[in-house]
Amino acid sequence: MAKINENYLKLPGSYLFSTIAKKVSAYSEANPDKEIIKMGIGDVTKPLAPSVIDAMRKAVDEMGTAEGFHGYGPEQGYDFLRNKIVEKDYKARGIDIKADEVFVSDGAKSDCGNIGDIFSKDNKVAVCDPVYPVYVDTNAMAGRAGEFQDEHWTNLYYMPCTEENGFMPELPKEKVDIIYLCFPNNPTGVSATREQLKPWIKYAKDNGAVILYDSAYEAFITDPDVPHSIYELDGAKEVAIEFRSFSKTAGFTGTRCAYTVIPRELKVNGTELNGLWNRRQCTKFNGVPYIIQRGAEAVYSDEGYKQTREAIAYYLENAKIIRDALTKVGLTVYGGENAPYIWAKTPDGMKSWDFFDKLLEEAGVVTTPGAGFGPSGEGYIRLTAFSTKENTIKAMEKIQAIL
Ligand code: MLT
Repeated sequence: MAKINENYLKLPGSYLFSTIAKKVSAYSEANPDKEIIKMGIGDVTKPLAPSVIDAMRKAVDEMGTAEGFHGYGPEQGYDFLRNKIVEKDYKARGIDIKADEVFVSDGAKSDCGNIGDIFSKDNKVAVCDPVYPVYVDTNAMAGRAGEFQDEHWTNLYYMPCTEENGFMPELPKEKVDIIYLCFPNNPTGVSATREQLKPWIKYAKDNGAVILYDSAYEAFITDPDVPHSIYELDGAKEVAIEFRSFSKTAGFTGTRCAYTVIPRELKVNGTELNGLWNRRQCTKFNGVPYIIQRGAEAVYSDEGYKQTREAIAYYLENAKIIRDALTKVGLTVYGGENAPYIWAKTPDGMKSWDFFDKLLEEAGVVTTPGAGFGPSGEGYIRLTAFSTKENTIKAMEKIQAIL
């Protein structure tokens, strides 16, 4: 008889953003005349840059010719894109990453989840709290998280990120093997400087741990002290895997393209993780479509860069509008300066989900309840800056009117 992966049965409810989507659509159905502004899931609203569209169009035309047709591509990504990534995202910052250390994929979310395939079930995993739920849920699915009790997984090591510690996790007080870090952070929008990251490299070296560094929001960094890549830090190539994405950098949430870097220097017990991930990808993944990779390549052209930077500046301006508006009505806000997320404290100690309901029902604004990101997220909500400027302003006016 077939047996299921019982770890799935331990997962509480549905995936956070599915729960919210269901709640919002139920509310919409019951209140069809109410306008709803979505500032919940971090999905972009600006169209793809003209350079990206031109490159994709050209690739579509190529695909319609015998000479330009592309079937299965390399599972690791086409060289034209891997080389551009190396040159523009790493070499330009003085970082020596080789093209065969870059794996192009369909998303940082998938990679952050799938990376667990190359690690034993017996690793002790540390996550920030609050945290992007994918890290937690995928470890639970793999049987690495233990049991879910009192809002905690028994085998995970939680690193609280609170107002008291400036939302910066403290080094684990016990030995852990795998550490997820995400900066600029989702959900708090807080970023880490080089100095703040240095001790993590040392901890990982001293303890034989691997850092899984999610850098999906690096394009939003404005502060020169904040590194765009963990590999800007000495020794990081020996201990860290980095995840990057075109989703938020260039509006690819719907077209899907990202990449993961696994330096050759990164070894566990003498085994290169690069080789294991390559084996995993060749077996389970068929690569990102040629057309999409040509679009991603165009992000690095002079025009493409300029156009995508304009979109980032637009979202950062939205973030400022949100910060200013919420501060004006007396809320305490964090993030939004090097990140597209604003982490706002609920008024009068309200529970996150209660404040989420209030904002939805009274202001028609969808947010994400902080508690959905982990126990330390209770008492906060997250807003995204990815809406249009018009809707961001409108949403803030509506929130100001009810607070
Ligand atoms: C979020 O809202 O946290 C992100 O959009 C989720 C994601 O990128 O998968």
